[in-house]
Amino acid sequence: MMILGNLQVATMSGGYGLVPHAAVMVEHGRIAWVGPEDDLPETAWPRHDMGGRLCTPALIDCHTHAVFAGTRAAEFEMRLQGATYAEIAAMGGGIASTVAATRAATDQALLAATLPRIDEMLAQGVGTVEIKSGYGLDIETELRMLRVARRIGELRKVRVRTTYLGAHAVPPEYRGRPDAYIAEVALPALKVAQTEGLVDAVDGFCEGIAFSPAQIAHVFAQAHKLRLPVKLHAEQLSNSGGAALAARHDALSADHLEYLDAEGVAALAASGTVAVLLPGAYFTLRETQAPPVAALRAAGVPMAVATDLNPGTSPMGSICLAMSMACTLFGLTPEEALLGTTAHAARALGLADLGRIASGFRADLAIWDAEHPAELAWRLGPTPLHARLHDGEFV
Ligand code: NIG
Ligand code: FE
Repeated sequence: MMILGNLQVATMSGGYGLVPHAAVMVEHGRIAWVGPEDDLPETAWPRHDMGGRLCTPALIDCHTHAVFAGTRAAEFEMRLQGATYAEIAAMGGGIASTVAATRAATDQALLAATLPRIDEMLAQGVGTVEIKSGYGLDIETELRMLRVARRIGELRKVRVRTTYLGAHAVPPEYRGRPDAYIAEVALPALKVAQTEGLVDAVDGFCEGIAFSPAQIAHVFAQAHKLRLPVKLHAEQLSNSGGAALAARHDALSADHLEYLDAEGVAALAASGTVAVLLPGAYFTLRETQAPPVAALRAAGVPMAVATDLNPGTSPMGSICLAMSMACTLFGLTPEEALLGTTAHAARALGLADLGRIASGFRADLAIWDAEHPAELAWRLGPTPLHARLHDGEFV
């Protein structure tokens, strides 16, 4: 039990939801009360003076591929010389090259490669991170990736949500036989992973260079059988109707969305699916078509923002940089960007008690050397994190 006093709190209820001269009461890992310090209920709880600092929910990175081995710097050089992401994939590079490196890495090596990536996130005020599989593409390596992701949640003060992404790419041994890959690997691996308690959600890559809507629908059907929520990499490189497919399956989120059309926007709005924007991938691929932010906003589709940390399209672990890019490249307001890494990111992961500062919510908090929440998206460079609370305790 404790009181954090002398704070400016961005509750993230209805926008920033700023409460100046505020206090937060924390009990049993949850927020017991938040409001103006003058209205603080009478208690003998210890009070920490936070020096007038800004307090937000701990940030949530709701889309990462943080577990992987190797780099893709050579591919970066190829793209700078004119090759496209899709061309490199067609030549057997891209995701497949990270699959080869990841299959060859031991569990220990994967963990050792991933931990510094997570530590960078935590130093930026992240308290929850989603981590996808999808660089194994065989049953054993998909399971290994998910176990490494779960292990990170034991080794660090962070909530890890794992997403099974078996339908990420067709591995070389199934080249030209995507249906066989889905039937023989992607679906059976999902079943085993779910039995082992390794999966919180199921994702896919719906794209010309990956899987068709019909193939993704098989994976989603299996997810529904296993009572797992779904999400989808959709409309990243072209419009293939992935967002509408995701919406039909009540997806938690549809992610990327550069090529989303009006029909897709309407589908997301109708299903309440979160649009996850990934400006790091847009930037790295030197994409020129931005997601239809104005249409998403007008339709009331909640927008989240994430790093998409991965070696191919978004070698970036900075959630604050992702917020900055969402503003400068996609036209979000800093308020929308912060909603995108708090309340809306929680929703994209199906987490009902995270991402806002309200009584009953988990006391995952970030305290910043900042005067206004817009500073989090404004700054390019070191993030002004002062302290973080995880489950009601200072980390
Ligand atoms: O989110 N779009 C597909 N998946 C990842 C990229 C994976 C990779 O290139 O290694 C993404 O951009
Ligand atoms: Fe991704």
